Amino acid sequence: SLAIAADQLILAGQLLDVRSGELRANQAILVQEQRIEQVLPARQLTSEQRALPTLDLSNYTVLPGLLDMHVHLTSNPQQHGLRRLNATPARQAIFGVTAAEVTLQAGFTTVRNVGASGFADVDLRNAIDEGEIVGPRMRVAGHSICITGGHCDNNFLPHTYAARSFGVANSPDEVRTRVRQNMKYGANLIKFTATGGVLSRNTDVNASQFSLAEMQALVAEAHDRGAKVAAHAHGLHGMKRAIEAGVDSIEHASFLNDEVLAMVAERGTYLVMDIYVSDFILGEGEAAGILPESLEKERQVGQLQRENFRRAVAAGVNMAYGTDAGVYTHGQNARQFAYMVDWGMTPLQAIQSATLHAATLLDWRNEQGQLNVGLLEPGAYADLVAVAGNPLQNIRLLEAIPVVVKGGQQVK
Ligand code: ARG
Repeated sequence: SLAIAADQLILAGQLLDVRSGELRANQAILVQEQRIEQVLPARQLTSEQRALPTLDLSNYTVLPGLLDMHVHLTSNPQQHGLRRLNATPARQAIFGVTAAEVTLQAGFTTVRNVGASGFADVDLRNAIDEGEIVGPRMRVAGHSICITGGHCDNNFLPHTYAARSFGVANSPDEVRTRVRQNMKYGANLIKFTATGGVLSRNTDVNASQFSLAEMQALVAEAHDRGAKVAAHAHGLHGMKRAIEAGVDSIEHASFLNDEVLAMVAERGTYLVMDIYVSDFILGEGEAAGILPESLEKERQVGQLQRENFRRAVAAGVNMAYGTDAGVYTHGQNARQFAYMVDWGMTPLQAIQSATLHAATLLDWRNEQGQLNVGLLEPGAYADLVAVAGNPLQNIRLLEAIPVVVKGGQQVK
């Protein structure tokens, strides 16, 4: 048989195939230059392959490194509300160094950073990719795009300060300009806000932001440049408008209804529903500086979002894992798995949302067209986690992952 080039061997006691849900015993992963070359039963290894430098995980269940589609690594969850005014982009980038490391240590080997100021997320990603600091692979949005006074704008100060977020845009042309600027400075993903939000001051979660024409211009511009579009939306009308405009994912999706489920089913739009974070906001948010008006909004959003998550699972629409870590404590990204199981997913579905499905939403591929992340298959980066036990029986094993490998290198 023809020898397969490999520089490293990883042995797995059990390996979870996230496509089929099958757990296969005694598998071997051959790694070449950080990528998976082949996955095969360990008994089929040649003696040369057995002699490769080996990471022995034969006492563990191995699964792909996890993906979180909604984080803000540069956001300090202890500095909400007015405290946020102290956070310069440089300070946020410094904070993000530690946030990136704990996120990776928690088993999340790839994240989408859906909004940061001052392109701190671009610099964070570049520092990670260049090996200066340790963190997950990042897809980054740069500045979130929104209307004047919208969810991404700075609404804390009176007009005399002329405070305005970089991502503000107020016409189809301005929206196109913002997309182009974001990508010029290193974004590879576009995020905009289609409704008000919980944590922004003086915005209504039910009120739409941007016209259909603006959203269509944004999506066309992003897609022309090969970037996916993530739309923040709690309210029904803004959500429907964003889906109609052709976004790739709806973030939060709190007040979805059957019409929304039919629309996303037809178009293949992903829902990224952050159903854990409400516990933090209502439990620890006040101490972290969250404004009373935001706490009040969260009381209207949190429970309904969970109920609607259950409806979305029952409808069988595309769903990807996203937590909004950064609003809450970095490194606790996996806490949402158990909530997803409580609200209607099987453990396998929850794991698929954070691996196969998230990777399909990202659609980040190598030169051969294979997915780079989210799977343990040839062509993907050798990003994986290992747990002692069966996560299909106990999903909470993912909350304390003992072994994390990124690009074939053990980082925990
Ligand atoms: N960033 C979001 C916002 O301000 C957080 C909402 C979190 N609440 C929730 N139930 N998912 O709107």
